[in-house]
Amino acid sequence: MILIIDFGSQYNQLIARRVREAHVYCEIHPPGISIDQIKVLAPEGIILSGGPASIYEKNSPRVDQGIFELGIPVLGICYGMQCMVDALGGQVNRAEKREYGFAELHSKDATGIFHGVPKETKCWMSHGDAVGRLPRGFRVTASTPTTRVAATENPAKKVYGLQFHPEVAHTPMGKRMLKNFLFRVCNCKKTWTMKSFIKDSVSDIRSLVKDKKVILGLSGGVDSSVTALLLHQAIGKQLTCIFVDNGLLRQGEAERVKGLFKKHFKVRLRFVNAKRQFLKGLTGVVDPEKKRRIIGRTFIEAFEIEARKLQGVELLAQGTLYPDIIESRSAFGGPTAVIKSHHNVGGLPRNMKLKLIEPLKHLFKDEVRVLGKELGLPDDLIWRQPFPGPGLAIRIIADVTPARLSILRKVDAIVLEEIKENNLYRKLWQSFAVLLPLKSVGIMGDQRTYEHIAAIRAVTSTDAMTADWAKLPHSLLGRISNRIINEVRGVNRVVYDISSKPPSTIEWE
Ligand code: XMP
Repeated sequence: MILIIDFGSQYNQLIARRVREAHVYCEIHPPGISIDQIKVLAPEGIILSGGPASIYEKNSPRVDQGIFELGIPVLGICYGMQCMVDALGGQVNRAEKREYGFAELHSKDATGIFHGVPKETKCWMSHGDAVGRLPRGFRVTASTPTTRVAATENPAKKVYGLQFHPEVAHTPMGKRMLKNFLFRVCNCKKTWTMKSFIKDSVSDIRSLVKDKKVILGLSGGVDSSVTALLLHQAIGKQLTCIFVDNGLLRQGEAERVKGLFKKHFKVRLRFVNAKRQFLKGLTGVVDPEKKRRIIGRTFIEAFEIEARKLQGVELLAQGTLYPDIIESRSAFGGPTAVIKSHHNVGGLPRNMKLKLIEPLKHLFKDEVRVLGKELGLPDDLIWRQPFPGPGLAIRIIADVTPARLSILRKVDAIVLEEIKENNLYRKLWQSFAVLLPLKSVGIMGDQRTYEHIAAIRAVTSTDAMTADWAKLPHSLLGRISNRIINEVRGVNRVVYDISSKPPSTIEWE
Protein backbone atom coordinates (compact mmCIF):
# COMPACT_ATOMS: atom_id res chain seq x y z
CA MET A 1 0.00 0.00 0.00
CA ILE A 2 0.87 3.67 -0.39
CA LEU A 3 0.41 6.08 2.49
CA ILE A 4 -0.75 9.57 1.54
CA ILE A 5 -0.19 12.24 4.15
CA ASP A 6 -2.85 14.88 3.94
CA PHE A 7 -1.71 18.49 4.27
CA GLY A 8 -5.15 19.73 3.23
CA SER A 9 -4.80 20.23 -0.51
CA GLN A 10 -8.04 20.32 -2.47
CA TYR A 11 -6.40 17.70 -4.73
CA ASN A 12 -5.42 15.03 -2.25
CA GLN A 13 -8.37 12.76 -2.90
CA LEU A 14 -7.34 12.97 -6.52
CA ILE A 15 -3.87 11.65 -5.64
CA ALA A 16 -5.55 8.68 -3.96
CA ARG A 17 -7.79 8.10 -6.98
CA ARG A 18 -4.79 8.13 -9.33
CA VAL A 19 -2.88 5.64 -7.18
CA ARG A 20 -5.86 3.32 -7.03
CA GLU A 21 -6.52 3.60 -10.75
CA ALA A 22 -3.01 2.22 -11.11
CA HIS A 23 -4.26 -0.78 -9.04
CA VAL A 24 -2.27 0.07 -5.92
CA TYR A 25 -4.14 0.40 -2.63
CA CYS A 26 -3.59 3.61 -0.67
CA GLU A 27 -4.90 5.37 2.40
CA ILE A 28 -4.99 9.03 3.35
CA HIS A 29 -3.87 9.93 6.88
CA PRO A 30 -3.33 13.23 8.73
CA PRO A 31 0.24 14.57 9.27
CA GLY A 32 0.03 13.66 12.96
CA ILE A 33 0.39 9.96 12.14
CA SER A 34 3.16 8.44 14.29
CA ILE A 35 6.11 6.39 13.11
CA ASP A 36 4.70 3.39 14.96
CA GLN A 37 1.38 3.73 13.14
CA ILE A 38 3.24 3.99 9.85
CA LYS A 39 5.17 0.81 10.67
CA VAL A 40 1.88 -1.00 11.27
CA LEU A 41 0.57 0.15 7.89
CA ALA A 42 3.89 -0.94 6.30
CA PRO A 43 3.56 1.21 3.18
CA GLU A 44 5.74 0.63 0.14
CA GLY A 45 5.86 4.37 -0.42
CA ILE A 46 4.73 7.63 1.16
CA ILE A 47 3.27 10.60 -0.69
CA LEU A 48 3.19 13.97 1.06
CA SER A 49 0.29 15.95 -0.41
CA GLY A 50 0.03 19.64 -1.17
CA GLY A 51 -1.63 22.05 1.23
CA PRO A 52 -2.50 25.70 1.82
CA ALA A 53 0.10 26.46 4.54
CA SER A 54 3.60 27.97 4.28
CA ILE A 55 6.32 25.85 5.84
CA TYR A 56 8.12 28.84 7.39
CA GLU A 57 4.98 29.93 9.29
CA LYS A 58 4.62 29.05 12.94
CA ASN A 59 2.32 26.05 13.48
CA SER A 60 2.50 24.92 9.86
CA PRO A 61 1.78 21.18 9.66
CA ARG A 62 4.81 18.90 9.58
CA VAL A 63 5.55 15.21 9.59
CA ASP A 64 7.66 13.24 12.02
CA GLN A 65 11.27 13.60 10.82
CA GLY A 66 11.65 9.87 11.34
CA ILE A 67 9.66 9.30 8.14
CA PHE A 68 12.79 10.01 6.13
CA GLU A 69 14.82 7.46 8.08
CA LEU A 70 12.51 4.49 7.48
CA GLY A 71 14.06 3.58 4.14
CA ILE A 72 10.58 3.92 2.57
CA PRO A 73 10.50 5.98 -0.69
CA VAL A 74 8.89 9.41 -0.28
CA LEU A 75 7.33 11.66 -2.92
CA GLY A 76 6.53 15.22 -1.85
CA ILE A 77 4.05 17.17 -3.94
CA CYS A 78 3.90 21.00 -3.73
CA TYR A 79 3.68 21.81 0.02
CA GLY A 80 4.71 18.18 0.62
CA MET A 81 7.96 18.80 -1.23
CA GLN A 82 8.59 22.01 0.70
CA CYS A 83 7.94 20.21 3.97
CA MET A 84 10.41 17.53 2.95
CA VAL A 85 13.08 20.05 1.89
CA ASP A 86 12.68 21.93 5.17
CA ALA A 87 12.85 18.75 7.24
CA LEU A 88 16.05 17.61 5.52
CA GLY A 89 17.91 20.89 6.00
CA GLY A 90 17.09 22.85 2.82
CA GLN A 91 15.33 26.19 2.64
CA VAL A 92 11.93 27.36 1.40
CA ASN A 93 11.14 31.03 0.76
CA ARG A 94 8.27 33.12 -0.46
CA ALA A 95 8.57 32.97 -4.26
CA GLU A 96 9.53 36.16 -6.09
CA LYS A 97 6.84 35.35 -8.58
CA ARG A 98 3.86 33.25 -7.64
CA GLU A 99 2.95 30.63 -10.20
CA TYR A 100 -0.64 29.53 -10.85
CA GLY A 101 -1.85 27.52 -13.81
CA PHE A 102 -0.02 25.95 -16.73
CA ALA A 103 3.77 26.12 -16.90
CA GLU A 104 6.32 24.77 -19.37
CA LEU A 105 8.31 22.07 -17.62
CA HIS A 106 11.85 21.27 -18.71
CA SER A 107 13.32 18.10 -17.22
CA LYS A 108 17.05 17.37 -17.11
CA ASP A 109 16.92 13.71 -18.09
CA ALA A 110 14.39 10.92 -18.46
CA THR A 111 15.23 9.03 -15.28
CA GLY A 112 13.51 8.45 -11.95
CA ILE A 113 10.11 10.13 -11.84
CA PHE A 114 10.68 11.40 -15.39
CA HIS A 115 11.27 8.00 -16.99
CA GLY A 116 9.54 8.06 -20.39
CA VAL A 117 8.50 11.71 -19.99
CA PRO A 118 9.45 14.12 -22.82
CA LYS A 119 12.03 16.73 -21.84
CA GLU A 120 9.56 19.51 -22.61
CA THR A 121 6.04 19.08 -21.26
CA LYS A 122 3.36 21.04 -19.45
CA CYS A 123 2.57 20.98 -15.77
CA TRP A 124 0.02 22.54 -13.43
CA MET A 125 1.40 24.88 -10.79
CA SER A 126 -0.30 26.43 -7.77
CA HIS A 127 2.20 27.88 -5.30
CA GLY A 128 3.41 31.08 -3.68
CA ASP A 129 6.51 29.55 -1.99
CA ALA A 130 9.55 28.02 -3.65
CA VAL A 131 12.57 25.96 -2.70
CA GLY A 132 15.61 28.27 -2.33
CA ARG A 133 18.32 25.87 -1.19
CA LEU A 134 18.19 22.10 -1.57
CA PRO A 135 19.26 19.75 1.22
CA ARG A 136 22.59 17.94 0.80
CA GLY A 137 22.49 15.06 -1.67
CA PHE A 138 19.59 16.52 -3.70
CA ARG A 139 19.69 17.76 -7.29
CA VAL A 140 17.29 19.72 -9.48
CA THR A 141 15.59 17.41 -12.00
CA ALA A 142 13.18 19.84 -13.67
CA SER A 143 12.53 23.60 -13.91
CA THR A 144 9.98 25.99 -15.34
CA PRO A 145 10.81 29.51 -16.58
CA THR A 146 9.70 30.86 -13.17
CA THR A 147 10.64 28.06 -10.78
CA ARG A 148 14.16 26.67 -10.68
CA VAL A 149 13.32 23.73 -8.41
CA ALA A 150 10.20 22.41 -10.11
CA ALA A 151 11.36 18.89 -9.29
CA THR A 152 14.12 17.40 -7.18
CA GLU A 153 15.46 14.03 -6.11
CA ASN A 154 17.88 12.19 -3.93
CA PRO A 155 17.80 8.77 -5.57
CA ALA A 156 20.16 7.22 -3.01
CA LYS A 157 17.60 7.98 -0.27
CA LYS A 158 14.67 7.34 -2.67
CA VAL A 159 13.22 10.77 -1.92
CA TYR A 160 11.57 12.81 -4.68
CA GLY A 161 9.80 16.15 -4.86
CA LEU A 162 7.52 17.85 -7.38
CA GLN A 163 6.52 21.49 -7.03
CA PHE A 164 3.64 21.01 -9.51
CA HIS A 165 0.59 18.73 -9.28
CA PRO A 166 1.02 15.44 -11.18
CA GLU A 167 -2.43 14.27 -10.01
CA VAL A 168 -4.49 16.80 -12.00
CA ALA A 169 -5.47 16.28 -15.62
CA HIS A 170 -3.77 19.58 -16.52
CA THR A 171 -0.39 17.88 -16.07
CA PRO A 172 -0.57 15.61 -19.13
CA MET A 173 2.34 13.36 -18.11
CA GLY A 174 1.32 13.39 -14.43
CA LYS A 175 -0.10 9.86 -14.40
CA ARG A 176 3.13 8.58 -15.91
CA MET A 177 5.16 10.34 -13.22
CA LEU A 178 3.02 8.88 -10.41
CA LYS A 179 3.29 5.43 -11.97
CA ASN A 180 7.06 5.81 -12.14
CA PHE A 181 7.05 6.49 -8.42
CA LEU A 182 4.76 3.52 -7.70
CA PHE A 183 6.34 0.92 -9.93
CA ARG A 184 9.93 2.03 -10.59
CA VAL A 185 10.75 3.56 -7.22
CA CYS A 186 8.50 1.72 -4.76
CA ASN A 187 8.23 -1.57 -6.68
CA CYS A 188 4.49 -1.77 -5.95
CA LYS A 189 2.49 -4.67 -7.37
CA LYS A 190 -0.86 -4.13 -9.11
CA THR A 191 -2.94 -5.95 -6.55
CA TRP A 192 -5.80 -3.49 -6.02
CA THR A 193 -8.73 -4.75 -8.07
CA MET A 194 -12.38 -5.08 -7.15
CA LYS A 195 -12.06 -8.87 -7.39
CA SER A 196 -9.33 -8.85 -4.77
CA PHE A 197 -11.29 -6.33 -2.70
CA ILE A 198 -14.31 -8.67 -2.65
CA LYS A 199 -12.15 -11.62 -1.65
CA ASP A 200 -10.46 -9.72 1.20
CA SER A 201 -13.66 -8.03 2.40
CA VAL A 202 -15.60 -11.27 2.47
CA SER A 203 -13.00 -12.83 4.73
CA ASP A 204 -12.71 -9.68 6.89
CA ILE A 205 -16.50 -9.45 7.27
CA ARG A 206 -16.73 -13.13 8.21
CA SER A 207 -14.09 -12.88 10.89
CA LEU A 208 -15.66 -9.71 12.30
CA VAL A 209 -19.27 -10.93 12.24
CA LYS A 210 -18.66 -14.57 13.19
CA ASP A 211 -22.09 -16.04 13.97
CA LYS A 212 -23.76 -12.72 14.81
CA LYS A 213 -26.68 -11.11 13.01
CA VAL A 214 -26.42 -7.89 11.01
CA ILE A 215 -29.10 -5.42 9.91
CA LEU A 216 -28.89 -2.87 7.12
CA GLY A 217 -31.24 -0.10 6.07
CA LEU A 218 -31.62 -0.56 2.34
CA SER A 219 -32.68 2.59 0.50
CA GLY A 220 -32.31 1.44 -3.09
CA GLY A 221 -29.43 3.86 -3.69
CA VAL A 222 -26.04 2.65 -4.89
CA ASP A 223 -24.17 2.68 -1.58
CA SER A 224 -26.65 0.74 0.53
CA SER A 225 -27.35 -1.69 -2.35
CA VAL A 226 -23.67 -2.51 -2.82
CA THR A 227 -23.22 -2.86 0.95
CA ALA A 228 -26.14 -5.28 1.02
CA LEU A 229 -24.77 -7.48 -1.75
CA LEU A 230 -21.25 -7.57 -0.36
CA LEU A 231 -22.52 -8.54 3.08
CA HIS A 232 -24.90 -11.05 1.56
CA GLN A 233 -22.00 -12.69 -0.24
CA ALA A 234 -20.03 -12.86 3.00
CA ILE A 235 -22.66 -13.92 5.54
CA GLY A 236 -25.80 -14.84 3.57
CA LYS A 237 -28.83 -15.23 5.82
CA GLN A 238 -27.12 -13.64 8.84
CA LEU A 239 -27.86 -10.34 7.08
CA THR A 240 -31.35 -8.86 7.18
CA CYS A 241 -32.07 -5.77 5.14
CA ILE A 242 -34.85 -3.44 6.16
CA PHE A 243 -36.53 -1.40 3.48
CA VAL A 244 -38.90 1.26 4.76
CA ASP A 245 -41.46 2.33 2.17
CA ASN A 246 -42.20 5.89 3.25
CA GLY A 247 -44.68 6.51 0.45
CA LEU A 248 -42.45 9.33 -0.81
CA LEU A 249 -40.64 7.29 -3.44
CA ARG A 250 -40.80 7.58 -7.19
CA GLN A 251 -43.04 5.47 -9.36
CA GLY A 252 -42.25 1.77 -9.19
CA GLU A 253 -39.21 2.30 -6.92
CA ALA A 254 -40.32 0.23 -3.92
CA GLU A 255 -41.41 -2.68 -6.11
CA ARG A 256 -38.11 -2.53 -8.00
CA VAL A 257 -36.05 -2.82 -4.82
CA LYS A 258 -38.23 -5.67 -3.55
CA GLY A 259 -38.06 -7.55 -6.85
CA LEU A 260 -34.32 -7.16 -7.22
CA PHE A 261 -33.15 -7.93 -3.70
CA LYS A 262 -35.76 -10.37 -2.48
CA LYS A 263 -36.62 -12.28 -5.63
CA HIS A 264 -33.46 -11.97 -7.69
CA PHE A 265 -30.62 -11.87 -5.15
CA LYS A 266 -32.54 -13.81 -2.48
CA VAL A 267 -31.42 -11.40 0.22
CA ARG A 268 -33.37 -11.67 3.47
CA LEU A 269 -35.45 -8.49 3.22
CA ARG A 270 -38.07 -7.08 5.51
CA PHE A 271 -40.28 -4.73 3.62
CA VAL A 272 -41.98 -2.23 5.91
CA ASN A 273 -45.00 -0.43 4.58
CA ALA A 274 -44.92 2.75 6.66
CA LYS A 275 -46.72 5.01 4.14
CA ARG A 276 -49.54 5.76 6.56
CA GLN A 277 -47.26 6.84 9.42
CA PHE A 278 -45.27 9.16 7.16
CA LEU A 279 -48.34 10.74 5.57
CA LYS A 280 -49.96 11.18 8.94
CA GLY A 281 -46.88 12.90 10.33
CA LEU A 282 -46.67 15.19 7.33
CA THR A 283 -50.31 16.28 7.34
CA GLY A 284 -50.55 20.04 7.09
CA VAL A 285 -46.75 20.53 7.26
CA VAL A 286 -45.42 23.13 4.83
CA ASP A 287 -42.03 24.07 6.29
CA PRO A 288 -39.24 22.11 4.52
CA GLU A 289 -37.02 21.62 7.56
CA LYS A 290 -39.99 20.46 9.61
CA LYS A 291 -40.78 17.95 6.85
CA ARG A 292 -37.18 16.67 7.03
CA ARG A 293 -37.31 16.30 10.81
CA ILE A 294 -40.59 14.44 10.74
CA ILE A 295 -39.40 12.12 7.99
CA GLY A 296 -36.10 11.42 9.79
CA ARG A 297 -37.87 10.67 13.05
CA THR A 298 -40.55 8.50 11.46
CA PHE A 299 -37.89 6.56 9.59
CA ILE A 300 -35.98 5.77 12.76
CA GLU A 301 -39.15 4.71 14.55
CA ALA A 302 -40.18 2.39 11.72
CA PHE A 303 -36.65 0.98 11.43
CA GLU A 304 -36.38 0.37 15.16
CA ILE A 305 -39.72 -1.40 15.43
CA GLU A 306 -38.68 -3.75 12.66
CA ALA A 307 -35.17 -4.27 13.99
CA ARG A 308 -36.50 -5.16 17.46
CA LYS A 309 -38.57 -7.95 15.92
CA LEU A 310 -35.33 -9.63 14.95
CA GLN A 311 -33.80 -11.42 17.89
CA GLY A 312 -30.12 -11.06 18.73
CA VAL A 313 -28.96 -8.49 16.21
CA GLU A 314 -25.58 -7.06 17.24
CA LEU A 315 -24.33 -5.21 14.19
CA LEU A 316 -25.66 -2.39 12.04
CA ALA A 317 -24.21 -2.06 8.54
CA GLN A 318 -23.90 1.27 6.75
CA GLY A 319 -22.79 2.31 3.28
CA THR A 320 -20.34 4.99 4.45
CA LEU A 321 -17.75 5.87 1.76
CA TYR A 322 -14.13 6.99 2.06
CA PRO A 323 -14.72 10.69 1.30
CA ASP A 324 -17.18 10.84 4.23
CA ILE A 325 -14.39 9.66 6.49
CA ILE A 326 -11.60 11.81 5.07
CA GLU A 327 -13.70 14.96 5.02
CA SER A 328 -14.87 14.48 8.55
CA ARG A 329 -11.41 14.65 10.09
CA SER A 330 -9.48 17.85 10.08
CA ALA A 331 -6.44 18.06 7.83
CA PHE A 332 -4.21 18.87 10.77
CA GLY A 333 -5.97 16.84 13.46
CA GLY A 334 -5.28 13.52 15.06
CA PRO A 335 -5.55 10.20 13.31
CA THR A 336 -8.91 9.17 14.73
CA ALA A 337 -11.80 9.54 12.37
CA VAL A 338 -15.00 11.17 13.50
CA ILE A 339 -17.68 9.86 11.22
CA LYS A 340 -20.25 12.31 9.98
CA SER A 341 -23.81 11.42 10.76
CA HIS A 342 -24.79 10.88 7.18
CA HIS A 343 -28.39 10.59 6.19
CA ASN A 344 -27.95 7.57 3.95
CA VAL A 345 -30.60 5.75 5.90
CA GLY A 346 -31.92 8.68 7.87
CA GLY A 347 -29.52 8.49 10.81
CA LEU A 348 -28.53 5.84 13.27
CA PRO A 349 -31.24 4.25 15.37
CA ARG A 350 -31.12 5.60 18.90
CA ASN A 351 -30.64 3.49 21.98
CA MET A 352 -29.83 0.41 19.98
CA LYS A 353 -26.53 -0.83 21.24
CA LEU A 354 -25.33 -1.92 17.85
CA LYS A 355 -21.78 -2.08 16.61
CA LEU A 356 -21.20 -0.42 13.25
CA ILE A 357 -19.92 -2.29 10.24
CA GLU A 358 -18.99 -0.22 7.19
CA PRO A 359 -17.49 -2.41 4.48
CA LEU A 360 -17.22 0.40 1.88
CA LYS A 361 -15.50 2.89 4.14
CA HIS A 362 -12.26 2.76 2.15
CA LEU A 363 -13.84 3.11 -1.27
CA PHE A 364 -14.49 6.06 -3.54
CA LYS A 365 -17.81 6.34 -5.37
CA ASP A 366 -16.36 5.22 -8.71
CA GLU A 367 -14.92 2.13 -7.01
CA VAL A 368 -18.29 1.38 -5.42
CA ARG A 369 -19.83 1.39 -8.90
CA VAL A 370 -17.20 -1.04 -10.23
CA LEU A 371 -17.80 -3.20 -7.17
CA GLY A 372 -21.57 -3.08 -7.76
CA LYS A 373 -21.05 -4.27 -11.31
CA GLU A 374 -18.76 -7.06 -10.12
CA LEU A 375 -21.47 -8.15 -7.64
CA GLY A 376 -24.09 -8.25 -10.38
CA LEU A 377 -26.09 -5.08 -9.74
CA PRO A 378 -27.91 -3.85 -12.86
CA ASP A 379 -26.57 -0.74 -14.62
CA ASP A 380 -29.68 1.35 -13.95
CA LEU A 381 -29.12 1.00 -10.21
CA ILE A 382 -25.35 1.50 -10.38
CA TRP A 383 -25.80 4.74 -12.30
CA ARG A 384 -28.89 5.92 -10.45
CA GLN A 385 -28.96 9.67 -9.94
CA PRO A 386 -28.94 10.79 -6.28
CA PHE A 387 -32.37 10.86 -4.68
CA PRO A 388 -32.86 12.67 -1.37
CA GLY A 389 -33.87 10.75 1.74
CA PRO A 390 -37.04 12.88 2.25
CA GLY A 391 -38.01 11.96 -1.32
CA LEU A 392 -40.94 13.56 -3.07
CA ALA A 393 -41.99 15.37 0.13
CA ILE A 394 -39.42 18.09 -0.57
CA ARG A 395 -40.50 18.31 -4.19
CA ILE A 396 -44.06 19.27 -3.37
CA ILE A 397 -43.87 22.95 -2.52
CA ALA A 398 -46.76 22.76 -0.06
CA ASP A 399 -48.11 20.20 2.35
CA VAL A 400 -47.92 16.61 1.18
CA THR A 401 -51.16 14.83 0.27
CA PRO A 402 -51.79 11.49 -1.48
CA ALA A 403 -53.34 13.32 -4.46
CA ARG A 404 -50.29 15.56 -4.89
CA LEU A 405 -47.91 12.64 -4.53
CA SER A 406 -49.80 10.77 -7.19
CA ILE A 407 -49.60 13.71 -9.63
CA LEU A 408 -45.90 14.30 -8.98
CA ARG A 409 -45.07 10.61 -9.43
CA LYS A 410 -46.65 10.60 -12.87
CA VAL A 411 -44.95 13.84 -13.92
CA ASP A 412 -41.59 12.66 -12.61
CA ALA A 413 -41.87 9.34 -14.45
CA ILE A 414 -42.38 11.19 -17.75
CA VAL A 415 -39.36 13.42 -17.12
CA LEU A 416 -37.14 10.43 -16.38
CA GLU A 417 -38.43 8.41 -19.31
CA GLU A 418 -37.69 11.22 -21.75
CA ILE A 419 -34.29 12.00 -20.25
CA LYS A 420 -33.30 8.34 -20.52
CA GLU A 421 -34.73 8.06 -24.02
CA ASN A 422 -32.44 10.93 -25.07
CA ASN A 423 -29.36 9.34 -23.44
CA LEU A 424 -28.99 12.22 -21.02
CA TYR A 425 -29.57 10.35 -17.77
CA ARG A 426 -25.92 9.67 -16.94
CA LYS A 427 -24.74 13.06 -18.15
CA LEU A 428 -26.98 14.88 -15.70
CA TRP A 429 -26.31 14.93 -11.98
CA GLN A 430 -30.03 14.97 -11.33
CA SER A 431 -33.18 15.41 -13.39
CA PHE A 432 -36.62 15.47 -11.82
CA ALA A 433 -39.96 17.20 -11.44
CA VAL A 434 -41.24 19.55 -8.76
CA LEU A 435 -44.93 20.12 -8.10
CA LEU A 436 -46.10 23.67 -7.45
CA PRO A 437 -49.62 23.33 -6.20
CA LEU A 438 -50.45 26.86 -7.33
CA LYS A 439 -53.24 26.98 -9.85
CA SER A 440 -53.14 28.72 -13.19
CA VAL A 441 -55.63 28.99 -16.03
CA GLY A 442 -55.32 26.95 -19.21
CA ILE A 443 -57.44 25.79 -22.09
CA MET A 444 -57.80 22.21 -23.29
CA GLY A 445 -60.07 21.55 -26.22
CA ASP A 446 -62.85 24.05 -25.67
CA GLN A 447 -62.62 23.76 -21.93
CA ARG A 448 -61.13 26.21 -19.46
CA THR A 449 -58.82 24.44 -17.03
CA TYR A 450 -57.57 25.64 -13.63
CA GLU A 451 -54.78 23.34 -12.50
CA HIS A 452 -51.31 22.94 -10.98
CA ILE A 453 -47.89 23.87 -12.33
CA ALA A 454 -45.03 21.39 -12.72
CA ALA A 455 -41.42 22.52 -12.81
CA ILE A 456 -38.64 20.54 -14.44
CA ARG A 457 -35.23 20.62 -12.76
CA ALA A 458 -32.14 19.23 -14.51
CA VAL A 459 -28.60 20.06 -13.41
CA THR A 460 -25.03 19.13 -14.16
CA SER A 461 -22.60 18.87 -11.28
CA THR A 462 -19.67 16.80 -10.02
CA ASP A 463 -20.34 16.88 -6.30
CA ALA A 464 -23.65 18.72 -5.66
CA MET A 465 -21.73 21.56 -3.97
CA THR A 466 -22.18 23.66 -7.09
CA ALA A 467 -24.47 22.89 -10.02
CA ASP A 468 -25.37 24.41 -13.34
CA TRP A 469 -28.84 24.21 -14.86
CA ALA A 470 -28.69 21.85 -17.81
CA LYS A 471 -29.08 23.31 -21.29
CA LEU A 472 -31.61 20.67 -22.37
CA PRO A 473 -32.61 20.81 -26.06
CA HIS A 474 -35.78 22.89 -26.59
CA SER A 475 -37.32 20.04 -28.56
CA LEU A 476 -36.91 17.73 -25.57
CA LEU A 477 -38.36 20.29 -23.16
CA GLY A 478 -41.27 20.76 -25.55
CA ARG A 479 -41.92 17.03 -25.70
CA ILE A 480 -41.76 16.64 -21.91
CA SER A 481 -44.17 19.54 -21.49
CA ASN A 482 -46.63 18.14 -24.06
CA ARG A 483 -46.59 14.71 -22.55
CA ILE A 484 -47.10 15.98 -18.99
CA ILE A 485 -50.03 18.21 -19.87
CA ASN A 486 -51.66 15.53 -22.03
CA GLU A 487 -51.04 12.56 -19.79
CA VAL A 488 -51.26 13.86 -16.24
CA ARG A 489 -54.59 15.07 -15.02
CA GLY A 490 -54.12 17.99 -12.62
CA VAL A 491 -51.28 19.80 -14.43
CA ASN A 492 -51.86 22.35 -17.18
CA ARG A 493 -48.56 24.27 -17.20
CA VAL A 494 -44.90 23.26 -17.23
CA VAL A 495 -41.94 25.53 -16.49
CA TYR A 496 -38.19 24.92 -16.67
CA ASP A 497 -35.93 25.94 -13.78
CA ILE A 498 -32.98 27.96 -15.11
CA SER A 499 -31.23 28.68 -11.81
CA SER A 500 -27.79 27.44 -10.85
CA LYS A 501 -26.36 26.58 -7.44
CA PRO A 502 -25.32 28.90 -5.84
CA PRO A 503 -27.36 31.02 -5.33
CA SER A 504 -30.22 28.52 -5.75
CA THR A 505 -30.06 24.93 -4.48
CA ILE A 506 -30.67 21.77 -6.47
CA GLU A 507 -33.83 20.81 -4.61
CA TRP A 508 -36.52 23.43 -4.25
CA GLU A 509 -36.94 22.84 -0.54
P1 XMP B 1 -29.31 20.98 -2.44
O1 XMP B 1 -30.78 21.05 -2.67
O2 XMP B 1 -28.89 21.37 -1.07
O3 XMP B 1 -28.94 19.44 -2.58
O4 XMP B 1 -28.53 21.71 -3.52
C1 XMP B 1 -27.65 18.90 -2.71
C2 XMP B 1 -27.78 17.39 -2.87
O5 XMP B 1 -28.28 16.82 -1.67
C3 XMP B 1 -29.53 16.16 -1.90
N1 XMP B 1 -30.39 16.48 -0.74
C4 XMP B 1 -30.65 15.63 0.26
N2 XMP B 1 -30.31 14.33 0.45
N3 XMP B 1 -31.51 14.30 2.47
C5 XMP B 1 -30.75 13.67 1.54
O6 XMP B 1 -30.48 12.47 1.71
C6 XMP B 1 -31.90 15.60 2.37
O7 XMP B 1 -32.59 16.13 3.23
C7 XMP B 1 -31.44 16.29 1.19
N4 XMP B 1 -31.61 17.55 0.74
C8 XMP B 1 -30.96 17.65 -0.44
C9 XMP B 1 -30.04 16.72 -3.22
O8 XMP B 1 -30.90 15.82 -3.88
C10 XMP B 1 -28.74 16.97 -3.96
O9 XMP B 1 -28.25 15.80 -4.56
